[in-house]
Amino acid sequence: MQRVTLTIDGKQISVRPGTTILKAARSVGASIPTLCHLPGRRTRAVCRICVVAVQGSARLVPACATPVSEGMQVDTQAADVVAVRRTLMEFILAEHRDCGDPDCQIERLAAELGVGQSRFHAPESTRRNVFPSDFVSVLSQRCVHCDRCIEACAADRNVLARSGHGATVQVDFADGESSRETACSVCGDCVSVCPAGGLIPA
Ligand code: SF4
Ligand code: FES
Repeated sequence: MQRVTLTIDGKQISVRPGTTILKAARSVGASIPTLCHLPGRRTRAVCRICVVAVQGSARLVPACATPVSEGMQVDTQAADVVAVRRTLMEFILAEHRDCGDPDCQIERLAAELGVGQSRFHAPESTRRNVFPSDFVSVLSQRCVHCDRCIEACAADRNVLARSGHGATVQVDFADGESSRETACSVCGDCVSVCPAGGLIPA
């Protein structure tokens, strides 16, 4: 079987073509944080917290969405990689307010990255709390826009989608208010994959 050989943090590894850097790195014990990545689902690569350095690449690349290539040399712990992850985490923390969950996955991830408080303050939000169905509500003040709920829903009814741009982007109905009572199957997948307590049973 054809294999691709690359080096990750100085360790040589051979993997199947199409394997992501994230999967290859984890197979050699490298620790790469993830947030938006949902194993087994389509990769949206919106959070960028999984960035790594690839020799010869001018930009850091998201490990969850970048396939390996022959001869690639990957550094998962370079100083600039760690610094970018921390800054991204600060932006994420600035968006994540009024959580109150003692076991919050976002705060746990921040702690893993050595980030305490954010230096940034998100502008006063114009986002609405929305109610995708009679079963679940989106709390915009907690949502970190990872799209995991949207991806989870895409595998079932496709009720959820992003709406807005920039400061107004948020989880919303895929098809306007008409989605609310007709399409949601009350499967609960969106709630179970949210890392931020941004979706709660209504
Ligand atoms: S509601 Fe939760 S899962 Fe959905 S985008 Fe926001 S943080 Fe992610
Ligand atoms: S986990 Fe890779 S971009 Fe979000």
